[in-house]
Amino acid sequence: MSPIYVDHFATTPLDQRVFDAMRPYFQQDFGNPANDGHHFGQIAREAVEEARDTVRHAVGSPSNSPVIFTSGATESNNLVFRGLAERQKHRRRHVVVSSIEHKSVLAPVRWLTQNGYAATLVPVAQTGVINSDEIISALTDDTLLVSVMAANNEVGTIQPLEAIGQATRSRGILLHSDATQGVGKVPIDMARLGIDLLSFSAHKIYGPKGSGALCVAAASTAAELAPQMLGGGQENEMRSGTLNVPGIVGLARAIELMQELTPIEQVRIRALRDALLSGLQKSIEGVQINGNLDCAVPGALNVSIDGVRSTALLARIRDIGVSGAAACGGKSATSHVLAAMGLNRSRIGSALRFGIGRFNTPEDVDSVIDQIVTAVGWIRNQPQFGVEIQA
Ligand SMILES: Cc1ncc(COP(=O)(O)O)c(C=O)c1O
Repeated sequence: MSPIYVDHFATTPLDQRVFDAMRPYFQQDFGNPANDGHHFGQIAREAVEEARDTVRHAVGSPSNSPVIFTSGATESNNLVFRGLAERQKHRRRHVVVSSIEHKSVLAPVRWLTQNGYAATLVPVAQTGVINSDEIISALTDDTLLVSVMAANNEVGTIQPLEAIGQATRSRGILLHSDATQGVGKVPIDMARLGIDLLSFSAHKIYGPKGSGALCVAAASTAAELAPQMLGGGQENEMRSGTLNVPGIVGLARAIELMQELTPIEQVRIRALRDALLSGLQKSIEGVQINGNLDCAVPGALNVSIDGVRSTALLARIRDIGVSGAAACGGKSATSHVLAAMGLNRSRIGSALRFGIGRFNTPEDVDSVIDQIVTAVGWIRNQPQFGVEIQA
């Protein structure tokens, strides 16, 4: 049986069409866009600027607004928090973030609090959806920045950015969104939503790893960020280092394909996700949904199976690419997202995160169900692999 990948929130395979767009920039069009006094550099420069336009257009950022190409969302998020802190040393000193942000937001926030800033971590309901009123009531005259993700990477829940954006805009507070799991899946229009800064990575949307962007709605906001990478002054002094031209071209092609395919693709993906859930629930007792599928991106499914420790289950289904806790969070086993949603330890310990994606088929889903049903049956006969069920 060949391995089946249903972990598209961790990463996605590179789409062949994205690879085809990138390929020339590895070889014949290998030039350095900073050296555009000749043909080679000029070709590379044009490709990068075209990609910048594609990205702006895809996220509803004004033409000519800054798009800083980075190595991914982690770098973009760090640039926002650390960059703002460095430039804002004597001004507002409070940030508001949700408690279910990715660690690449939470860790820089912790760094801020160790460097003279105050942070409010706004709790989340058991649905995994942030209450915009709670964010808004955390704002003070000292608030510099609010950061709320577009969609969560563990339970897929889509967050109420529009209401938050109206409040931050009216009070002159910056709004950042980590849209790594939202770009291409939920409509992102920075201008309409009132988002000032937006981060994402290409590899979550069938693009290459090591490529991402920070989109900034206004040049005046970019001027408030201190660059974190110093050197040759690329990206308008915001991020030094020779540009990853194939990665940037791939990012733009990936986002373009998402726009083109999403309307049909997401319907198909949602149907597969629903089939997976009903197949699991039909054959396994005690499958509980974590989060709320009605307000989640279509491919997301996070479930806990009563009494079945996910580490034990994963060990028996090694040919299925699926996660226990957040795979992109490295080795730390427990999920701060599920904990913030108020789930108890046994429910967190038995959580499985599925992410259905572009290349999954109904046969994949059937096979995943069969393998999980068999593994759960085996584990339930071996009580030492279970988790104690807590109320
Ligand atoms: C919501 C979210 N933000 C940020 C990241 C970090 O992305 P990267 O590892 O590409 O920098 C991830 C995934 O790992 C994510 O899911």
